[in-house]
Amino acid sequence: MRSAGLEGLELETRERPEPGPGEVLLRLRASCLNYHDYVVLQGRSPVDYPRVPLSDGCGEVIGTGPGVARLAVGDRVAPNFFIGWASGRPTLEDWRNVLGDSIDGCAQDYLSVPAAGVAKVPAHLTDLEAATLPCAGLTAWNALVEPGLVAGETLLVQGTGGVSIFALQFGKALGAEVIVTSSSDEKLERARGLGADHTVNYRRTPEWQASVREITDGRGADLIVDVGGRDTLARSVKAAAVGGRIALVGVLGGFGDAPFNPSATFSKHLRLYGIGVGSREDFDAMNRCVAQHRLRPVVSDVFPLEETADAARLLERGGHLGKIAVSIAD
Ligand SMILES: NC(=O)c1ccc[n+]([C@@H]2O[C@H](COP(=O)([O-])OP(=O)(O)OC[C@H]3O[C@@H](n4cnc5c(N)ncnc54)[C@H](OP(=O)(O)O)[C@@H]3O)[C@@H](O)[C@H]2O)c1
Repeated sequence: MRSAGLEGLELETRERPEPGPGEVLLRLRASCLNYHDYVVLQGRSPVDYPRVPLSDGCGEVIGTGPGVARLAVGDRVAPNFFIGWASGRPTLEDWRNVLGDSIDGCAQDYLSVPAAGVAKVPAHLTDLEAATLPCAGLTAWNALVEPGLVAGETLLVQGTGGVSIFALQFGKALGAEVIVTSSSDEKLERARGLGADHTVNYRRTPEWQASVREITDGRGADLIVDVGGRDTLARSVKAAAVGGRIALVGVLGGFGDAPFNPSATFSKHLRLYGIGVGSREDFDAMNRCVAQHRLRPVVSDVFPLEETADAARLLERGGHLGKIAVSIAD
């Protein structure tokens, strides 16, 4: 990116980097679009230009710097969204470097990154599928695992974007009954094909929280993955069961404050979980689940790297379901 806005995107030739101490050099084969990338591409996130966009990628280790023992040449891997957050509770320093935002990202052939922030990807996935795991996949995983989703509980996921479709898939794998909302009946049909037990069109039913209560015989959902923020939080609180949890993930309704009545949380004994993607160790744990259940990320569209701007336009109009992947050819 030479400047903010999709018109600021252009291809350029750069020197191939060398892996420094503790780093691995990756030959990237695939990337994908997240809502976060779209925000960066629009220039709504303060970045220094020029900047290589896109946080997520999958590729092969083709070189290792001094002191690297965890990974070897030939490993198929993906860098973590927070490349400096290897494990444990994050510090601000762990969150400093975000690929495709505060540092150069994955819309390129070669990337040299700290090995501690890189995870091996499940063998059964294609590069395009594996490239969708770092941001949307790991966020969905932690949105379910941190609040401790238990088999048999009711999970509500909002919309059919990247995070939400991963949450549907992980929710089914972990034994939940899953309700999916969407603005599109056609997408809800596809969500049913992916295992959704109940569906609600939030455009035709703006008071979708009432439908969630009906579906759950008046109880409400045990866990809600809230991606709308300002647009959805007040209704998510109403849709939640007594003792329920809400994983606060997204800002699709905008970055401002959400209308929110705190009394509703303590009168229902709700717990709110702020989710910030996850650490590389979380990534490894998620990958074990993906491998165990042979889960396949849902990729509805693929664009070549040269057409990243078109991929962003598709995301902007919500034309996708699950993930939009980007292929990085030779
Ligand atoms: N906290 C974190 O760590 C973290 C990590 C990843 C993403 N996020 C955030 O999570 C959100 C989703 O990210 P994503 O990459 O999955 O986005 P995405 O793939 O672009 O998903 C967009 C979809 O969400 C649905 N949607 C749009 N506006 C909505 C609203 N107001 N209420 C309910 N659903 C709505 C639509 O689904 P339908 O077309 O089916 O209606 C839309 O297609 C974004 O705000 C992103 O910034 C946060």
